[in-house]
Amino acid sequence: QSDLIHVFNGIPFTTRSSAELLRSLDEFQARHDDLLLVSYPKSGTHWLAEIMKHLYSSKVSITSPIEFGNVSKLEELSNIPTKRIIPTHLNFNMLPADFKAKKCKAIYIIRNPKDTAVSLFHYYRDNPNLPTIEGWGTYFDMFLHGEVVCGSWFDHILSWEEHRNEMGTLFLYYEAMKKDIFQSVKKISHYLGINITDNEVHEICKKTSFSEMKNNVEKENTDPNNTVCSLTSNKKLIFRKGTVGDWKQYFSNKQNRLFDEMYNTKMDSSNLAKHIHYDN
Ligand code: A3P
Repeated sequence: QSDLIHVFNGIPFTTRSSAELLRSLDEFQARHDDLLLVSYPKSGTHWLAEIMKHLYSSKVSITSPIEFGNVSKLEELSNIPTKRIIPTHLNFNMLPADFKAKKCKAIYIIRNPKDTAVSLFHYYRDNPNLPTIEGWGTYFDMFLHGEVVCGSWFDHILSWEEHRNEMGTLFLYYEAMKKDIFQSVKKISHYLGINITDNEVHEICKKTSFSEMKNNVEKENTDPNNTVCSLTSNKKLIFRKGTVGDWKQYFSNKQNRLFDEMYNTKMDSSNLAKHIHYDN
């Protein structure tokens, strides 16, 4: 594809994830209190991470994504003295086995794949770590057939759904969070066993709004060189529109039909599909 991409286990990765690191992942030693923050790219990972940061306030480290870096990564993570919140875009099948053995908690955030596709399209154009793409039409086919970085959206979500009970994974929906962030934050705190007052929940909702997060990055109130996405370290690339339904500006009728066909075929037996805000 390009110098920026290499394929590992059939999945395209950027060179920011070294093959040596990917090969060594299975040696990773998990801890019982590790929390995984899982997503396909462009599903609201940074939003969720910001909520976590405020929920725990201190004494936790949100690490860089487990698949980002080279072999020294595993040692780096093992040296973190606090509870670790570990982001990842890995397909379940590539997740280090010890997370499964130790039944670590995991939160998976899902977004309407049509909006995810559009968001990833802009990422391809803006993010120098991703190869140049020709235009929306070419990119659309690549996304639909899983020929983009991190592979197929469908395979990603289905791999996590298939094993959902092994770790008791909590699934969150971007659109449901947009609709009712208050209840969403309560749900997350409940899953994590964190006691929190309604006032504190309101505070968190305010601090993690799209406009607040975008402003903070522009004013450099946060470290702009630290992200929870393995595809960039530049936080400025993350906050684009933050809306629901942007796909309607991009999909032609024919593309929409092709996408629906693929979605209906792939997601036919998925229970999660009943909750995905697919028609927004
Ligand atoms: P858009 O490109 O559609 O704007 P990720 O964090 O997984 O990389 O996902 C990035 C997407 O989440 C971007 O979508 C970004 O704008 C959106 N996003 C980031 N912070 C958000 C927030 N606080 N509220 C809503 N959407 C947010």
